[in-house]
Amino acid sequence: MKIPKRLQPLVDDGLIDEVVAQLMSGKEAQVYVVRSGGELRCAKVFKEAKQRSFKQAVQYQEGRKVRNSRQGRAMAKKSRYGQKEQEQAWLNAEVDALYRLASAGVRVPRPHGFVDGVLLMEMIHDAEGYAAPRLDDVTLGAEEAREHHTRVIGEVVRMLCAGLVHGDLSEFNVLLDARGPVIIDLPQAVDAAGNNSAAMMLERDVDNMRAYFGRFAPELLETDYAKEIWALYESGELHPESRLTGCFAHDTRLVDVDDLLAVIEDAREEQAEHLAALARSEQDDADER
Ligand SMILES: Nc1ncnc2c1ncn2[C@@H]1O[C@H](COP(=O)(O)OP(=O)(O)O)[C@@H](O)[C@H]1O
Ligand SMILES: [Mg+2]
Repeated sequence: MKIPKRLQPLVDDGLIDEVVAQLMSGKEAQVYVVRSGGELRCAKVFKEAKQRSFKQAVQYQEGRKVRNSRQGRAMAKKSRYGQKEQEQAWLNAEVDALYRLASAGVRVPRPHGFVDGVLLMEMIHDAEGYAAPRLDDVTLGAEEAREHHTRVIGEVVRMLCAGLVHGDLSEFNVLLDARGPVIIDLPQAVDAAGNNSAAMMLERDVDNMRAYFGRFAPELLETDYAKEIWALYESGELHPESRLTGCFAHDTRLVDVDDLLAVIEDAREEQAEHLAALARSEQDDADER
């Protein structure tokens, strides 16, 4: 295909040999299949829309604050610079997260560098060698859904042990290859220890996965892994091998029905005795009068 402008520098540098195809685009990025280092890889570039909305925000401020055209020109210049900086920081966060998670043993695409604002990474593929489907693209059997759910929860735990919460985990950001789920799209990954929203984001991530897999295995809808994971994390007891129950704050002790009925019977007898005693003393009072 024709080489997209943003990939041209990487082609010129010999990092990309060929641009093969463009994948269905997600929310914020354009992802291309490229031939690089003798294999197919993905090249992720952020979309223009992000720049537009950023520029609009800057323009909105300009309308209120700019006093003269000279200042306006300076701000326009600064905004381009600022936007580039912001985009760079965003992409850096994703590359950092990928390296960190890959070395922590989380299944993410292996990163192959970050050049000129383009993230090069392993292409996750299906059995035929095509880009792997997202969870959203597949229909699962109940058993499969339970297995993948367990695997994803395991990855969430591993990520948290590595200090990160995905922050945008959904059926659109998990791919499925022959070995199971692979987590993608991490520019917004948050620092679990340093971000006040981390617990909330973890809960949203985990609940999204519950809702998705629960479509195929409804009993998963009864689970509550998020609070359990976070409680273990906060008390310093979370490990990649932590045994999770899927229950939290629900009393799971089995009720002994016979025992319970005996307690109720005792209470009833006690009450009857109490009433009888009351009646007797009232009778005594009446007799005295
Ligand atoms: N490493 C990869 N291997 C295969 N497909 C990928 C890979 N990374 C991204 N994709 C595809 O590109 C789409 C967009 O990528 P993503 O990182 O989710 O960006 P965003 O959702 O912000 O646009 C994904 O939904 C997925 O289909
Ligand atoms: Mg995405």
